[in-house]
Amino acid sequence: MKLLAIETSCDETAIAILECAGDDTAAQFTILGNTLLSQIEIHRPYGGVFPAVAKREHAKNLVPILEATLSEAEMLHEDTQALPEDTREQVLKILEREPDLGEAFLASLSEMEVPDIDAIAVTAGPGLEPALWVGVNFAKALAVLWNKPLIAVNHMEGHALSALVTEVPGSNSRVFDLKDVELPLLALLISGGHTEIVGAKTWRDYTLVGQTRDDAVGEAFDKVARMMNLPYPGGPEISKLAEKNREDAGTNPYKLPRPMIDTKDCDFSFSGLKTSVLYLVKDKELSELYKQQLAHAFEDAVSDVLYTKTSKALIETGSKSLAIGGGVSASTHIRRYFETHLPEDHPEVKFFIPPRFLTGDNAVMIGIAAYYAYLREEFADIETLKANGNRSLSKQ
Ligand code: KG4
Ligand code: ZN
Repeated sequence: MKLLAIETSCDETAIAILECAGDDTAAQFTILGNTLLSQIEIHRPYGGVFPAVAKREHAKNLVPILEATLSEAEMLHEDTQALPEDTREQVLKILEREPDLGEAFLASLSEMEVPDIDAIAVTAGPGLEPALWVGVNFAKALAVLWNKPLIAVNHMEGHALSALVTEVPGSNSRVFDLKDVELPLLALLISGGHTEIVGAKTWRDYTLVGQTRDDAVGEAFDKVARMMNLPYPGGPEISKLAEKNREDAGTNPYKLPRPMIDTKDCDFSFSGLKTSVLYLVKDKELSELYKQQLAHAFEDAVSDVLYTKTSKALIETGSKSLAIGGGVSASTHIRRYFETHLPEDHPEVKFFIPPRFLTGDNAVMIGIAAYYAYLREEFADIETLKANGNRSLSKQ
C-alpha cells in the first residue's frame, strides 16, 4: 500500500510518499518521494522558532512541496475533469483559516489526477499548535479531495519507530526494513521539545518510564549554544565544537555536574547543567578553545546522564531492544557513547539508532508510524480531528 505523509509540527515542512509492506514484526518501507524544506534560516534572527512565522511558511510551502514529492514519485499527472462544486466548497471551508493556502491548493490540485495513494497521514501533535494545524487542515483537504482515509500520527511515535529501520544494502537510502525487533522495546526520545524514555511490552502500547522535569535535552543544547553566541539551532554547533576538542586535546580541564544521575527514578533535569555553563561563560572572553572545552564538558555530562538513566530503565523494564530517536540522536558523541557502552553493559539488548537523515523532523518517520496505525485500521475522523500541541505517546 502507499501512504502520503505530512509533517509540520515545528520548523520543517515535509511530505513523503512511502510504499509500505509487511506487518508489525517484518515491515518494509520504500521511499518513493521525499521533500523537506527547513525554515532554519528564517527563524535564525529570532534565536528560536517563532510559531506565527512557522505557520505562515508551512502554508506558503505545502502546495509546492506536495507537487515536488508527487513528481519525484512519478504521480503528478494532469487532469481536465472539472471539480464538483460541493467538493470545492468543502476544501475551502477546511482551509478557511489559511485563505492563501486554500486558493493555491485548488489552483494546483483541481488540475491534478488523483494519485495512486491509499491513505493520507499527518502529524497531529505534539508540537507547535499553529504549525500543526496547517498540516492537519491540509491533510483533511487532501483526504476530501482525493476521497482517501486520514491517519493522525503522534510525532514522537514517528521518532521512535523510524529509529528501528535499517537500510536495505544497495538501495541508495530508498528501502528500509523494520524487523528483528524483540519486545519489550525501550525508546529514548531526545529532541528539541521532548526528552523521555518510553517502554512498549507489545507493539504501540507505550508507557512512560522517565522524562525531563524541566528542559528538553535539545533545548539545553540550544540554550548553551546561545550563551556562546552560536547560531540557532545550537545542537549541531555544540556537538561540532565538542568533537573538535576531543580530537585535538582528548582530555578536558572542565567537568560539569551530572544532574539527577544518582536518583532512583529514570527522570532527567537539564536546567541546572545549563546554569552551570552560564556561570562559566558570564563576563568571560570566549576564545575558540574555551568554547570547545565547554561544549565538550557539556556534551559529556549530557551523554553520561542519558546513558545512565537509559541503562537503569533497560534493567527495570527487562527490555530486549533499545531505540534512540529525535534530533539530538544526530550527535556523533551520543551515538558513539551508546554504541560503545551498550554491548559491554547490556549484551542481550539489540540497539537501534536511525540513519542520520531520519534523526531530525521529517515526513518519512510520520509515514512509518502511520503504517502501524493503518495495519490496525486506526483512521481519523475528518470532522473531529484536532491538532494537539501536547498529544501524549503513552495515552494515545
Ligand atoms: O527532533 P527535532 O528535529 O525537533 C523536535 O521535535 O524538537 O530535534 C531538534 C533538536 C534541536 O534542539 C537541535 O539543536 C538538536 O535537535 N540537534 C542536535 C544535533 N542535531 C540537532 N543536538 C546535538 N547534536 C546534534 N548533532
Ligand atoms: Zn521531532
